[in-house]
Amino acid sequence: MSGDNYGIQTAAGHLTVAAESKEPYAADVLAGLHEDAAQVVAKYPQKRSALLPLLHLVQSVDGYVTGRGIDFCAEVLDLTTAEVSGVATFYTQYKRHPNGEYTVGICTNTLCAIMGGDQIWDEVSEHLGIGHDETTPDGKVTLERVECNAACDFAPVVMANWEFFDNQTPDSTKQLVDDLRAGKDVKPSRGPAKVCTFKQVSRVLAGFHDGLADEGVGAGPASLEGLKLAHDRGWTAPDGKSGETATDDQQPEATSNETAAGRHTSTDSAANAPDEAVDDKPATLFDENEKNGKDS
Ligand code: FES
Repeated sequence: MSGDNYGIQTAAGHLTVAAESKEPYAADVLAGLHEDAAQVVAKYPQKRSALLPLLHLVQSVDGYVTGRGIDFCAEVLDLTTAEVSGVATFYTQYKRHPNGEYTVGICTNTLCAIMGGDQIWDEVSEHLGIGHDETTPDGKVTLERVECNAACDFAPVVMANWEFFDNQTPDSTKQLVDDLRAGKDVKPSRGPAKVCTFKQVSRVLAGFHDGLADEGVGAGPASLEGLKLAHDRGWTAPDGKSGETATDDQQPEATSNETAAGRHTSTDSAANAPDEAVDDKPATLFDENEKNGKDS
């Protein structure tokens, strides 16, 4: 699949699926996708619930959500292509054009911005010659402005394929993208000792673990400062038994588990019934009779 449209995406382009992305999968690739999809779908009572991981699975193969990937998800999950596209265009982690091998996200949310994130963005964007959601011509780096990464204590923060690079500067981030483009090993500030590729990470997000989730340090020194202070001063968290407790008249009223006749809670509606209950038979992925009956 050609990467000719790296770096030339426009807002309109995000909604346009390139014709090449509709090329059929090779037979062995398609067989592998079906095999993996069956494992993902089996985790959910309703197969349509598997759409988000399946879109990541498509990205792990194609590098973005292709037209053929949308067709695949729709067929496997018994959805329309419009329903699949509606989801794929809603979440920013799903790419509608070829993505780089590394997504480099520069946090420009409030705290990071004032701590230098805006400056990092300006300099790195100029250094690479690309803007938001654009990719270097070599297909290595897709640059993104990202919102708060819940790592404000390490501001300004940059992420490469969702691995943290803390306390960044314009120079350190330019070095990071240069190293990524040169194929050098880069080590995140926390977590695993390497940054996996976009396709590798997409497979993890689809639910296939790579064994790296617990590797490395999870919380850095800044995040642990409060805990250290508490230890130094002998503070402990309330155990729920001592200190202030709610008086009887502050206790919430006991409520019945039963729902009034004709009413549904958010989880017991017919729409949320497992596929087995709806069809009175086990959900299957590739039930050709069911598919043919639906299509006819
Ligand atoms: S504002 Fe950047 S991590 Fe929170």
